[in-house]
Amino acid sequence: MNQFGKPFIQLITLMVGLLALATALVGVVGLVIYVSYSGIKLPELSPPDQSTIAAAIEAPAKPKGLMDPVGMWIAPEWSSVDAEPNAESIRYGRELVANTAEYLGPNGKVKKISNGLNCQNCHLQAGTAPLGNNYGAVASTYPKIRARSGQSEDIEKRINDCFERSLNGQGLERNSKEMVAMVDYMHWLGKDVPQGEKPKGVGIYEVPLLDRAADPVKGKTIYEQQCQSCHAADGQGLPKQDGTGYIYPPLWGDHSYNSGAGLYRLSRFAGYVRANMPLGATYENPLISDEDAWDVAAYVNSLERPSRDLSGDWPDISKKPMDHPFGPFSDEFSEEQHKFGPFKPIKEAKAKL
Ligand code: HEC
Ligand code: HEC
Repeated sequence: MNQFGKPFIQLITLMVGLLALATALVGVVGLVIYVSYSGIKLPELSPPDQSTIAAAIEAPAKPKGLMDPVGMWIAPEWSSVDAEPNAESIRYGRELVANTAEYLGPNGKVKKISNGLNCQNCHLQAGTAPLGNNYGAVASTYPKIRARSGQSEDIEKRINDCFERSLNGQGLERNSKEMVAMVDYMHWLGKDVPQGEKPKGVGIYEVPLLDRAADPVKGKTIYEQQCQSCHAADGQGLPKQDGTGYIYPPLWGDHSYNSGAGLYRLSRFAGYVRANMPLGATYENPLISDEDAWDVAAYVNSLERPSRDLSGDWPDISKKPMDHPFGPFSDEFSEEQHKFGPFKPIKEAKAKL
């Protein structure tokens, strides 16, 4: 081949290439024209709709377990109670915790000293449920000095606190058969917990604080969607036919806990609900978010309930918890903020002292 042969072949190759490209272009344009006039429907490349986007964004925030179950306190095997010398009293204690109203409610067969709630309504599974306000640390940590009373409290005093506040009633006599039985039950529950120790998973879950105040208006919507089906639109729950308590307990009004009760503090209510409500939720499978728990707490605790004279509580006002909603306070924050938050500034101010 001579020295002009190579460029010549390159030129031909280029022209053939261009021709092929042109043919292909004409083909594509033709096809597009054909398709657009023929009525053939091509799949649409529309953007994903709002719900798909929302689901994708929400996926990582989906509520998951609140605590690793490893090492959590579990109650002793119930059948092992038979081996105890005071087995009968322990069994009666458990029965009183589970069915308080039947024995000590407004129609109680032993005494009529409380409002119809059962201890178990708030201390789930007779005080054994992990993060269900259980009694795992009662035997190991009482008697102890409590800031609310400024005194040393034993288990009897603490039980009567709940009778007088959560059950808006009167306490039991210290040496009554019923009081002895409940104390025996709590000692038995905590028998394997070393003295002074508070095991993992005991009590109530601490819900992370929000950057804003809890919102009763948002909470009302959550209540209507998630709670009302059982606790009822008027918050009065569903009483049992025979008047011995409730199938679904009331959340506000005359038959609910009073303003001195633990659940009247927003953090206690939110923590209880976050890990246990709506019914069926557990700490491993919670059903509502942190925010919803705070907001529904704000809604429920902004409604009417029995009040209690709290003048004897918190003799040292600087020991009041951030969410104790009644002044006077040792800080500058209002009653409103101590009730609904935001709690972070209160906590920070406290930490600085
Ligand atoms: C309306 C809800 C409610 C009811 C009903 C209730 N309690 Fe409580 N109880 C609480 C709350 C809230 C706390 C405080 C939990 C916390 O701050 O971690 C508490 C705390 C306790 C404690 C102390 C636990 C600890 O580890 O320090 C004992 C003991 C107790 N209750 C016993 C009882 C008994 C017995 C009854 C029934 C007569 C009862 N409670 C009924 C809500 C309730
Ligand atoms: C499917 C029915 C059901 C739903 C829905 C439900 N609860 Fe409950 N709730 C119960 C029952 C039953 C108990 C008592 C548990 C027990 O005794 O074992 C209870 C107990 C409670 C208690 C403690 C007892 C009391 O009367 O103070 C609170 C607080 C509470 N629920 C709040 C809520 C909130 C807030 C919601 C919505 C986020 C909710 N519940 C949704 C059935 C329900």
